[in-house]
Formats: sequence, C-alpha cells, structure tokens
Amino acid sequence: MKYGNRRVLDDNNIHESFSIRDIFFLSKLSKLDSSKMVTTISTKAVILVQVWALVLAVLMPLLSGAVDTHQVKQLAAKFNVTCILVFGDSSVDPGNNNYLATPMKGNFLPYGKDFFRGRPTGRFSNGRLATDFIAEGLGYTKAIRPFLSKRLRPLDILHGVSFASAASGYDELTANLSNVLPVSKQLEYFRHYKIRLSQLVGAREAENNIKNAVAVMSMGTNDFLQNYYLEPVRPKQYTLEEYQNYLASCMSEDVKTMHRLGITRLVVVGVPPLGCMPLVKTLMDQETCVEKYNNFSSSFNSKVKVKLADSRTTLGMKIGFVDAYGIIQDAVNNPKKYGLTETSKGCCGTGTVEYGDTCKGMSTCADASKYVFWDAVHPTEKMYEIIADQAIDSLREQLMG
Ligand SMILES: *[C@@H]1O[C@H](CO)[C@@H](O)[C@H](O)[C@H]1NC(C)=O
Ligand SMILES: *[C@@H]1O[C@H](CO)[C@@H](O)[C@H](O)[C@H]1NC(C)=O
Ligand SMILES: *[C@@H]1O[C@H](CO)[C@@H](O)[C@H](O)[C@H]1NC(C)=O
Repeated sequence: MKYGNRRVLDDNNIHESFSIRDIFFLSKLSKLDSSKMVTTISTKAVILVQVWALVLAVLMPLLSGAVDTHQVKQLAAKFNVTCILVFGDSSVDPGNNNYLATPMKGNFLPYGKDFFRGRPTGRFSNGRLATDFIAEGLGYTKAIRPFLSKRLRPLDILHGVSFASAASGYDELTANLSNVLPVSKQLEYFRHYKIRLSQLVGAREAENNIKNAVAVMSMGTNDFLQNYYLEPVRPKQYTLEEYQNYLASCMSEDVKTMHRLGITRLVVVGVPPLGCMPLVKTLMDQETCVEKYNNFSSSFNSKVKVKLADSRTTLGMKIGFVDAYGIIQDAVNNPKKYGLTETSKGCCGTGTVEYGDTCKGMSTCADASKYVFWDAVHPTEKMYEIIADQAIDSLREQLMG
C-alpha cells in the first residue's frame, strides 16, 4: 500500500471542518422533509459492493479461483487499469454530500464506527464501501475520496475519485428532491476532473488515463423509494412500468455521455431487492421480504440489462452488470453460508426504521459483521465484502459464457 491509514483518515476527518457550513446550508433547507429523504440512501450502499465485483469482472474475465489482492493487481496491470471513476448514490458516495446543502448525510456516528480510527466520513455504512475495497485491491488507496473533498491529492486525481451523491438516482428529479448531485452534475464534475488531470499529466496522458479507467455506476433505489413511492409527480406521469422504462432510458443516455467523455469500460450495478430492506418490511408490516417490491427490483434490472446490451453494441463499450439483487437475496436466504446471523434488522437503533439522521447517535448491535444491514436501508461493510466476492464469480461466468 502506498498510502498509510493516517493520510486516508485525515481526509475522512475533513467533514468536521465543514460542519459550520453544513449547518448554514441546512438552516436554509427547512422546507425539506428529511423523513422522506432518509429512506433512499441505504439501498445504495449495497450496490457499491456489487460494483466492486463488476469492476473486477470486467477487468478479469479470465480470472479463475478466489480473487485476492495480488490477482487484482496483476489483472489491473494486464488490462492497464489505472483509475476508478465512480458515479451513483449512497452505495458509492464516500462523502460528497458532506459538501452539499442536503440533509442526506452520514457523517456522524455511528456511521463509520468500524472505519479506520472509527471515524464517520459520509459513507452510509459502518465501514468501507465496495468501491473502497476495489481501490485497495488495485493498490491505490484504502478509501476512495469524494471529488468534492478539498484535500484531493495528485494521486487521487490520477487513480480515481467518486462523484457519487447519496439520494441521487437515474431520474434527475430524484436528486432534486434532496438537493443532491444528479448524474448530469456528477458528469459535469467529471469534466472538471478531466481538466485537473490534464493539468497534472498533460492532455494526451489524461485521455489515455480515462480510456484505461473503469467507471462504476450504482443507483436506482432512490428513484423508487424516495421518488415514485413518495412524491406525486412521477406517478401522475407514468405507470410503474413506464417509469422503469424511463429510468432505463435515462441510464442509457448517461452511458452515452460517459462514452462521449472518453470512458470505455463501465460496470453498472443493478438495484438490490428493495423488499428485503428492513425499512420496507417495517412500512409494509411484513416479517419476510416484500414480494411486490422485490419483483419490482428484478423487473427493473431486466430492463437495465437490455439497455446495456444495446449500449455494448452501439457504442462498442465494455460494460459489465453486477447482480446485486441475487447476491443480497442469497445472503438473506442463506445467512450461515456467509457467517451472518441477522438478515432482517439493521444494526443501528431498533434496526427497523433508522437510517441517515434518525440513526444519528443511536446505539448499535454488538457485532455488525454478523448483519446484512447496517441501518434500515444500507448494508454493512461485511455485506459489501460478500457482495463483492459473489459478484466477481457471477460476472466472470457472465463475461465468459
Ligand atoms: C432539477 O433542478 C434543476 C435546477 O433547478 C432544473 O434545471 C431541472 O429542470 C430539475 N429537473 C427536474 C427533472 O425537475
Ligand atoms: C496504460 O495507461 C497509461 C496511463 O494512462 C498510459 O500512459 C499507457 O500508455 C497505457 N499503456 C498501454 C499499453 O495502453
Ligand atoms: C412476483 O413475481 C412472481 C414471479 O414472476 C409472481 O409469481 C408473483 O405473483 C409476483 N408477486 C407479486 C406480489 O407481484
């Protein structure tokens, strides 16, 4: 590892110096209904793990046997992967929202209690996200920094950052509802990033770097949970199926824009089984996963896969898909297989409703590594690791089959 924990951690402490600004922003947000916004974030964390797996799959279709750091590095070298660029929601946001005037934040305990030095960073989990594990595997850093960080180092610019923003989605309206970064804005920041990269290494090398980068896109949950099910606008315009089609075409457009901006390798993470989220079960007053919501996740994932197949042929991009749905559902159904014991409740508070602000300062379960869910929406660091492992296997098959 080139970077010690300390430097990574210093950056992750950065949110503290912005707390006054955050409060200032929050004071202007009184009209926002934070209870609505909180829900969306957790789901995305699950997706991150999957993204990691996808990245690996894209990079290493020929890899056989267990993936370890050494292999990841070798494959990265073989495919000349030098950089990871992350887009999406809370499943892959390492703290960009700390710098935004949004109530959708996770930069307070118990979030991050199992992160290095037990520090909250803005990640919606007890520890690291899947994309962090990927970056570590590649040997760059143990924790990917948010692009909005004021302490980005040249090496972060070289090896990758996250533009993701918790509570965002494929539908721009989803991000607008929480005043977070829609994909269009994340891509605008990516343009800024390219300028900074060019200043660092020259335009030609920058182009090369981006051509050889792996982009990860992980979102979709909030479009359903934060937007369609809570806000009247979209249901008036679209049936659920039409809305899924709309989201899938938004995604398709985002892929085109990425391609135009020089990205050639992409991993898209599907939505997790929404019906298994503790919050959804609580709201629907069900002990088991809510079938209707799960169906809805799987039908959306099918539409995404069709669109991605189109993009592969029309754009000639390398695109992988991570089946977060299948991986999480298997962990929920067969916890022992993964060393898990609690699949129903989150670790934070009662484990039935808390996430985001409502999880703030809550007591937690003794051992989050036995839990699928960290809060009522987002997975634990442990679950992210599991997802990553599983996704790698399934993706390898997918890409070789
Ligand atoms: C989101 O907000 C931006 C900026 O206010 C606006 O231009 C855009 O039309 C909004 N998008 C949607 C879908 O509401
Ligand atoms: C690998 O990527 C680096 C960084 O972008 C670039 O300088 C180099 O030319 C690439 N090598 C190959 C073989 O494509
Ligand atoms: C969910 O999908 C399954 C399989 O397609 C179907 O049999 C079941 O009726 C659906 N359940 C609900 C509640 O929509």
